[in-house]
Amino acid sequence: MTDYKILIAQAAALHEHTVRHRRHLHAHPELSFGEHETARYIAAALDTLGIPHVPIAGTGVLARIEGRGDLRRAVVLRADTDALPIGEQTGLAYGSQNAGVMHACGHDMHAAALLGALALLNSRRDEIEGTVLGLFQPGEECCPGGASLVLAEHPFDAFDIRAFVGQHVDPDLAVGTFGLRAGVYTASSDELHITVRGVGGHAAMPSRLRDPVVAAAQIVTALQQVVSRNADGNIPTVLSIGRLIADGATNIIPDEVTMQGTLRTFDADWRAGAKERIRAIASGVASAYGTEAIVTIRDGYPSVVNDPVLTRRTADILGALAGTDRVLALDRRMTAEDFGYYTAHYPSVFYRLGVGRPGEEPQRLHTPGFAPDERALDHGAAALAALALSL
Ligand code: NI
Repeated sequence: MTDYKILIAQAAALHEHTVRHRRHLHAHPELSFGEHETARYIAAALDTLGIPHVPIAGTGVLARIEGRGDLRRAVVLRADTDALPIGEQTGLAYGSQNAGVMHACGHDMHAAALLGALALLNSRRDEIEGTVLGLFQPGEECCPGGASLVLAEHPFDAFDIRAFVGQHVDPDLAVGTFGLRAGVYTASSDELHITVRGVGGHAAMPSRLRDPVVAAAQIVTALQQVVSRNADGNIPTVLSIGRLIADGATNIIPDEVTMQGTLRTFDADWRAGAKERIRAIASGVASAYGTEAIVTIRDGYPSVVNDPVLTRRTADILGALAGTDRVLALDRRMTAEDFGYYTAHYPSVFYRLGVGRPGEEPQRLHTPGFAPDERALDHGAAALAALALSL
């Protein structure tokens, strides 16, 4: 059994290194699938540690630490590495140097914590059963998701993956605490793109036209019935239309109207059924108004589904590390995560790392003021290392 007190002390001794990594990544954020400098920096940091690595999914890095025994037995520790198109407003000395781009989802924290964990594990190779793979994954924030590109390269086929581990910051949890949930944790997300085609013309003579604006307005309203009338009351579902473009004028009815939205839910069968209902309702309503609806639904991320046994063991390990009162049960979330692709293939656990500053109002993810408490890096590095040694 790993001595967790020693592990957390070792993580704390590495604090300066992990903070330096985090601040460098924070100052040089890159958007999804453009993480070239980020990948170079991570590769150089791994070289310094003497940890072998290969590129993956274009701008990702896959590190490998071999322990003892059957090296096919493997635990994967995954950190995402991309930033968001947000202009930083934290005023921090190490703020973003790339205008309009910011690590506002904490992926800089994820990558730095994983570098810290790999440094810890590299000095404890004789305690590792099998292999630890450190996956620095690009493109989490953008469809189709870096996870799907990673899996398309089949990097884990030669391994017997015992656990796929993902860690994500959470400003609603105080630094030093962790959160997790067994089973379905995040929603699936799909993009809805609907074009309503009619016949436009002079707005004073609608009887000569087939008005796509009125049809589109009815479709927006009718689609709400997918949630209110078709969804099982026990399966939370959200359908939102966030973009609706009818580019006519006061006296011009356009030929077509476009709309975009999102479908989020927690059940794979119902997800497929909801998409059928969306197509049927949009087409049926459009045709009732003499117009035509072209419905394109782009598949987004599947739900993150945490393996119940792994989740319980992870909670035990985090409890031994941080104290059982510092491991909290979480609710489901309507947000989506491309880690869901891994959970569909491997026994997986995705948990939250507290980065909230005690006594302060939490700053939300994906906002220009997001500033996590860096002390979380020690907890994050120790947690990943502990899980790699004990799962
Ligand atoms: Ni994120």
